[in-house]
Amino acid sequence: MVRRLTSALQRRAGPALGDSPATSDRLQVLAQVFATSSATLLETLPVGHPTVVLDLGCGPGHSTRLLRERFKSADVTGADISAAHLAEAATLVPGARFVRHDVTTMPLPRAPVELAYGRLLLAHVRHPARLVASWTGQLVARGWLVLEDVEWIRTDDTVFLAYLELASALLRSQDTELYAGQLLAAMPSPRGTAVVHTGVATVEPTVAQAAAMFVLDLTALRGEALARMGVDDRTVDELDEALTSRLQDGRRDVITWGMRQVALRRWGGR
Ligand SMILES: C[S@@+](CC[C@H](N)C(=O)[O-])C[C@H]1O[C@@H](n2cnc3c(N)ncnc32)[C@H](O)[C@@H]1O
Repeated sequence: MVRRLTSALQRRAGPALGDSPATSDRLQVLAQVFATSSATLLETLPVGHPTVVLDLGCGPGHSTRLLRERFKSADVTGADISAAHLAEAATLVPGARFVRHDVTTMPLPRAPVELAYGRLLLAHVRHPARLVASWTGQLVARGWLVLEDVEWIRTDDTVFLAYLELASALLRSQDTELYAGQLLAAMPSPRGTAVVHTGVATVEPTVAQAAAMFVLDLTALRGEALARMGVDDRTVDELDEALTSRLQDGRRDVITWGMRQVALRRWGGR
């Protein structure tokens, strides 16, 4: 994994936010970190046996694979805006289908669906509350919308704090929110739906895993976006170096994520 990360860092993917090779590598680390909390959520919700399942913002397919493993007899579709991610996803999860689709546009693929799931998607979109309401309109009666996003990240590590401040300011400058889980927690349930589950799952990655996610993010965010924020290259280089020096650190009590997990259920007909 470390060699893979090093080569990703060397690629210095530039400002291609969203689906650069560095982003894909980051999503692989992220998939390891959140696999257990997501699987536990999907396992414990009383969703029965949905036959049509949709992964909103599926990325390179890690979340789709979890859905496929949980709902073995379902027809699982992953939707994403990135052709590069979708190509990886098709290889990773041959048993699912994948569709290029902007999930802010209705109708959603395969609608009406029995279960729509979105992990770490709301931080990428504007007006998340409006969107969540639109997604519930794409469910069958008694269908489920399950969402997971970061509510908080706690650490005293000054390098991690510096990175988080930068990433969060950058997302805010684009009218999106790193801690989108807070918005999810505060959202009223859309008309015709009820919140069946809401809670925060805490996840403690190793220092190395957190540093890997952040350093790969920084690789993807560097360039134009940082210049727009008025951050010079030297500052980014120093942060990058400090994060890279943590890539072998196996401690687990340094940084904790709080993931807001919400399950909504639609009551009425379509
Ligand atoms: C952080 S990744 C999460 C990937 C996956 N859900 C997981 O948990 O592994 C967010 C994904 O949302 C996708 N995305 C962002 N905005 C989107 C949009 N408007 N429509 C479809 N996909 C979108 C990105 O391309 C990216 O693959």
